[in-house]
Amino acid sequence: MLPHALIKDTDYAESLNKLGFCVVPLFTVAQLEQMRELYHQNAIDNKVSGLIASHSKSTGDQSRNVSSSIKDIVMPALQEAFEDFSFFMAGFMVKEGNTPGELPLHQDWNIVDESRFNSYQIWVPLDLSHAENGGMYVLPGSHQFFNNFRSGSYGIPNIDTDEPLRPFITDMIIPPGSALVFHNSLFHASYPNHSSANRISAIVSICSKDAGIKYYHKNEVANCTDVYTITSDIFLRNLNRLENKGLPEEFLKHEIMPLQQLDNSKISSADLIAGFKNHFGDIESFEPLQLHILKDGELEKKLKKEGYAVLDLLDGSTVAELKEKYINQFGAPHTAIGRFTPMEHATPADKRKIHDFILDRIRPALDRHFKDYQTPIASYFTKYANSTGDLSWHTDASLLLNTHIEPHYGIWCPLVDVSPKNGALCIIERSHKFSHVVFLNGLAWPYDAYTDVFEKKKKVFTLKAGQVVLFDMRLVHHATPNETDEDRICFAVRFTHKKSKFYSFRCEDEDKSIVSVYEETPNFYLSDDWSGANQVGTHNRIGKMKDIYAVINYGRIESALMANEPVAG
Ligand SMILES: [Fe+2]
Ligand SMILES: [Fe+2]
Repeated sequence: MLPHALIKDTDYAESLNKLGFCVVPLFTVAQLEQMRELYHQNAIDNKVSGLIASHSKSTGDQSRNVSSSIKDIVMPALQEAFEDFSFFMAGFMVKEGNTPGELPLHQDWNIVDESRFNSYQIWVPLDLSHAENGGMYVLPGSHQFFNNFRSGSYGIPNIDTDEPLRPFITDMIIPPGSALVFHNSLFHASYPNHSSANRISAIVSICSKDAGIKYYHKNEVANCTDVYTITSDIFLRNLNRLENKGLPEEFLKHEIMPLQQLDNSKISSADLIAGFKNHFGDIESFEPLQLHILKDGELEKKLKKEGYAVLDLLDGSTVAELKEKYINQFGAPHTAIGRFTPMEHATPADKRKIHDFILDRIRPALDRHFKDYQTPIASYFTKYANSTGDLSWHTDASLLLNTHIEPHYGIWCPLVDVSPKNGALCIIERSHKFSHVVFLNGLAWPYDAYTDVFEKKKKVFTLKAGQVVLFDMRLVHHATPNETDEDRICFAVRFTHKKSKFYSFRCEDEDKSIVSVYEETPNFYLSDDWSGANQVGTHNRIGKMKDIYAVINYGRIESALMANEPVAG
């Protein structure tokens, strides 16, 4: 049986058990500000060179003071989110601005008997964290690959992320106030910090309440592992000595375990890839989802693998009712661009009414397939008779920061039968795996160069009215022209988990790909503020990101496109 996950939320507990990590909102802006003040009071900036841990650059007394001050700030929030845990220690981890190197994938020291108890690192970036400014990435599942001891004397694995290993890692954008919680045994790393600012984060270490804090010393002379029970104070007082493979005199009581045969320094990237494949089995169906909104596990698996599924969603009378409403309210052409949606071309009040009308009619059908979901957008989308429309290949604008970790799906439901002749949805299979970057208006689409290939590889859906394509919102898509004399009327709905937070994005500088990020409320897309052309709120700017497409591996996308057989419609 797995040890108690400590986090109260059952979704995040499952993610910690299966993936080894979760990204959760934990702290308020005020608490982050307190951490920042503490950082400056202790003049930690003066010690920064490359990547540093404050507790490795300070005296034991200073480290204990910083640890207990962070504890005072974070404990109320931790007690809300976790149970049956003990605080071990805390400090600051800082990656200096303009640090070109990655911190290699590594595990942290084990501080408990990991076969019986859990210990977590809670990584709290004080600013919006992403790949360009020293953000973290992890190897999902790797907390269970090796049951190894890690310490000063045992050392830790340090593995460069080579090209074969890179497709298996998961990075994430972390907004201020959220934290990455991960097992001490999970392989984790950080990107270079290409920004000019120091990347400041707090790191908080907690463990199962009953575990007892342990230090595992490799005793080569006696051919055994000496296990010492320690405290946070003893640990921080002696950290430098431990890091140099030494053993402090104040370490007295211990038990003895066999010497570990595995040499941590010999673990290779090939071992990690083998571990990943062994752990997850069908790796084509792997996506690091920490939240789930599909009731049917097999359907979720198909979405993870292919990026889409076709479902029979609505009966004839519901289709007729939705179509009649559209024709009565919007039947006459409203735009000259060949397409129409109340989201962009109706009053905000009508936009909201349509949202509610559609959802009221289809709720029972949705509830058959979805759980724990919310629907930020539901609207009609029309391609007028004899029109090409004005949209080419695209991915829809992002509403979330991390669509690979938190599900963001859409359904596309025609209210007339559709074929390649009248505005059928076309997708590129598996293109949700191209990347998990943020898409927005105002910044050139990163896949523009592939539109000719997309034309050759596209899958076109011929559907009966009331059938839907359920798809991952990262999927590359568009629709065929409508060559018929009848409008192609459909509706689309977007889904996220009810715990997901929404964001909007504004391009500040297209050349440098600088993007401001705003936190939004769930009803933002239905508000008066939103319009398709400029969907940015004005309220809660949480930071900016630069070079947001730098993590895209175009070589891998090209080989995936080449490997894909053309798919008939
Ligand atoms: Fe670490
Ligand atoms: Fe779209």
